[in-house]
Amino acid sequence: MRTIIEPFRIKMTEPLKVTTHAERAAALAAAHHNVFLIDAEDCCIDLLTDSGTGAMSTEQWAAMMLGDESYAGSRSWKRFEASVRDITGMRHILPTHQGRAAEGILAECVLRPGDIVPNNSHFDTTRANIEYRGAVALNLPCREAYDTQAEAPFKGNMDVDALRACIAEHGRERIPFAMMTVTNNTGGGQPVSMANLREVKAVLSEHGIPLVVDACRFAENAYFVHEREAAYRGRSLLDIAQEMFSLADGATMSCKKDGLANIGGFLVCRDDGWAERFRNLLILREGFPTYGGLAGRDLEAIAVGLKEALDYDYQVYRHATVEYMARQLDVLGVPMVRPAGGHAVFLDARAMLPEMDPLHYPGIGVVNALYLAGGVRAVELGSVMFGHLDEHGVEQPSPLELVRLAFPRRVYTQSHFDYLIEVIEQVSNERDRIPGHRIIRQPKMLRHFTCHFEPI
Ligand code: F0G
Repeated sequence: MRTIIEPFRIKMTEPLKVTTHAERAAALAAAHHNVFLIDAEDCCIDLLTDSGTGAMSTEQWAAMMLGDESYAGSRSWKRFEASVRDITGMRHILPTHQGRAAEGILAECVLRPGDIVPNNSHFDTTRANIEYRGAVALNLPCREAYDTQAEAPFKGNMDVDALRACIAEHGRERIPFAMMTVTNNTGGGQPVSMANLREVKAVLSEHGIPLVVDACRFAENAYFVHEREAAYRGRSLLDIAQEMFSLADGATMSCKKDGLANIGGFLVCRDDGWAERFRNLLILREGFPTYGGLAGRDLEAIAVGLKEALDYDYQVYRHATVEYMARQLDVLGVPMVRPAGGHAVFLDARAMLPEMDPLHYPGIGVVNALYLAGGVRAVELGSVMFGHLDEHGVEQPSPLELVRLAFPRRVYTQSHFDYLIEVIEQVSNERDRIPGHRIIRQPKMLRHFTCHFEPI
């Protein structure tokens, strides 16, 4: 059949509020023009994130009823541990309440001020956790990553020559570990090839530097490897994921993505010394090592969800949704990152608003226009999220001004996506009316979540 269907049917519904333009304008103004500060019920299609927003399956809900809430050594922990170990093959498995908790423990235990952590591209919480330790979060994406129009199959790859140069310049002592984020969220949800991962691992091994995978979207990455790397055609996604983790010395994970759960994460590693330090801090920050800040029922949902994310038919459908959006937007001439990523479509706000000063935050203009036009909530991945102050205290824009429409897993149907395309079409047609914005209040870190804007 030509038609790819959602490989599930719906047995529970949740109402969506359809709002008027005037209501949306009032909500946006009350939220200081920052969509993070808008009430969820005032959003019609909420594409702020694919994190923790997915729908769980009947199997997951059933497993939750088996949740064993014992403090130590619960049956739910055993099932979680078995599922994570089957996929990652790691010796030490530590549950955390979400991904950033795993990152925080890793950073606090391993990093000293002045250390450097290379990555294909750090996610914002990873960067913040590293910088909080006084270390440097260094992005080394491949060259194609900066060209939003290049149709390369693995634009999430790391630039291996740049990694070699980084090690030569700073020396092994200042690089306690390197990371690879699969898929590369901030670079447009682009996948990393197994070949690149293997090459990165080889370079790091020469110098005895451990590799930590940020595995949030490991199953989507496995699907891309299956589709785009010839040697992996016909292999199961589980098999591909296992091979990927076999190249890593550790991993941080947010189970709110490819764990298909609403909360949860883990930190895993092979090294006994690291594990000892992680475990001590885990007890202090998250909880006893067999629950790590999660209820037994959450552990159950994750144990099942991690495997469901590796279901081939599910990934075929998920990818078809993203491709459907991307194809329609292409027809309408809306600039976006090509090819489409694994969990989202990324509009290119700089290409949409080429005249706008990047420090007037074109991405925020587009995000707010999407909300006003149709109650669609998206997120800016541009100079608000990734801009930084240089050594003279002058704000430097991000190389890319993207707007991410992240798709919750198993939540929206085809007609929601058709509506979304119509909203984007309207915004794109009226793009010359989109205002710039200035920030009138911001915190020191992770400013995009809470800062206040004013249209210029
Ligand atoms: N790493 C990546 C690549 C992520 O995308 C995220 C979260 C994290 C780490 C942190 O995980 O939220 O469980 O603490 N990304 C979400 C997003 C928030 O919208 O992309 P967390």
